[in-house]
Amino acid sequence: MTAARLRPMRWWDIEPVMELELRLFPEDAWSRGMYWSELADTGPGGTRHYTVAVDGDGAVVGYAGLMAVGAEGDVQTIAVAEDQQGAGLGARLLADLVAEAARRQCAELLLEVRMDNPRAQRLYERFGFEPVGIRRGYYQPANVDALVMRLDNPKEPADG
Ligand SMILES: CC(C)(COP(=O)(O)OP(=O)(O)OC[C@H]1O[C@@H](n2cnc3c(N)ncnc32)[C@H](O)[C@@H]1OP(=O)(O)O)[C@@H](O)C(=O)NCCC(=O)NCCS
Repeated sequence: MTAARLRPMRWWDIEPVMELELRLFPEDAWSRGMYWSELADTGPGGTRHYTVAVDGDGAVVGYAGLMAVGAEGDVQTIAVAEDQQGAGLGARLLADLVAEAARRQCAELLLEVRMDNPRAQRLYERFGFEPVGIRRGYYQPANVDALVMRLDNPKEPADG
């Protein structure tokens, strides 16, 4: 298997990202319009940073997005295609967001994760995120609670 490569997400990635989005977030998928609006704020001076992972054939196999406003960063989304999970790609995408938050001098990086998603929570814990609260019924219409997690003082991860 050729290692996936990370690159900035562009508007033409929205369709393949939506295919993954609908499969990976069946209960709370974002719409195309949300991705268009997120990408519209990724230019110079923008508050968003979006990355895709592409395989050797150029197919999108993962994606992740960051919002950075002032000293606060938020992980907007992160996802890896089912057949690519468990090989470290989620960690590479998250490392990319943490590094960008550090470059933007965010004092903290926050995220919401479904309470019923222990796998994603473990990934965040490995990066030093700590649980700081619960948002009841955050995910609708499924009415699932969100765990809020925070990483203080994000730093550019050292290579290796
Ligand atoms: C959460 C998600 C992004 C993680 O992506 P991933 O690519 O599977 O993440 P990683 O491979 O970096 O880590 C996941 C597991 O694989 C293991 N792993 C990492 N590299 C590995 C390797 N080379 N070989 C074997 N296992 C490996 C990790 O130890 C980890 O194990 P754990 O879950 O038991 O702790 C992915 O599962 C996903 O897209 N889920 C659906 C969408 C979702 O829930 N997104 C999060 C919303 S908040």
